[in-house]
Amino acid sequence: MFVDVRSDTATIDPRLVDAAISPATRAIIGIDALGVPADWDELSDIARTNGLALVEDAACAAGGTYRGRACGSFGDVAAFSLHARKGITCGEGGVIATDSAELAERVRPLVCFGMESAYARQGSAGSSLPRFTELGYNYKLADILAAIATVQVGRLGTLLAHRRRAAAYYAAALADIDGVRAPQVPDDREPTWQTYAVEILEADRDAVIASLRELGVQSTIGTYAQHTQPVYGATASCPNSARFAERHLALPMSAEISEADQDRVIAALRRVLG
Ligand SMILES: Cc1ncc(COP(=O)(O)O)c(C=O)c1O
Repeated sequence: MFVDVRSDTATIDPRLVDAAISPATRAIIGIDALGVPADWDELSDIARTNGLALVEDAACAAGGTYRGRACGSFGDVAAFSLHARKGITCGEGGVIATDSAELAERVRPLVCFGMESAYARQGSAGSSLPRFTELGYNYKLADILAAIATVQVGRLGTLLAHRRRAAAYYAAALADIDGVRAPQVPDDREPTWQTYAVEILEADRDAVIASLRELGVQSTIGTYAQHTQPVYGATASCPNSARFAERHLALPMSAEISEADQDRVIAALRRVLG
């Protein structure tokens, strides 16, 4: 079941969740969309009241906080992405976070074909041949990638500080450009700015992307509206999600972006939006 997002943050709207729960519902999945934390207190209450699991998609949210708590700490289980476009990265891969020892034990073999870990086998006095306890996947993170990711985790604070500076710089510059709205973030949460997506209010967003490209500035969409993708065959109406998919424009953003680069982006956007 798809549930629409809030009109400001593009995160799941907790007020709409109750109506989507049916006897078949097992879990609620919330997304810290583009690195903006979702309404985890409300979502936790709804999950608890209805006896449902809560899953946090924190793919974009390493280092983000909601009411003083770290993203990835909400719900029964959370997933971070280490894909190249994320705030910390080792190219591909991810991290699962949970407070549940039971869930962690369940996940470990699933990552590696459903077999006992090499560490567990190494320590055993008997045969070190693996035993397959259930059908699993090949979701292993290579040691080399894990080594890179570990260093990235240590740099998270520095990388976040750069992105926050860049986001504040964009927000200040956007204030006097007509036809564009800077990202809206409530005071009780700190995003990661994995993506800096503005809303194009009147112009055709795809035409803006094309015009920016002609001026040497790469931009892209912000979010997909999943309920409109053919794979799901969904009938849900999620107007806010659809609006963001049509109007979001992700400006260049990285931990290395300089103010000079941002000035170029802003000048190009000002020119394109007239
Ligand atoms: C919200 C969200 N969930 C999940 C993913 C998938 O992450 P990965 O590519 O590491 O599987 C992404 C990546 O784009 C994402 O933005």
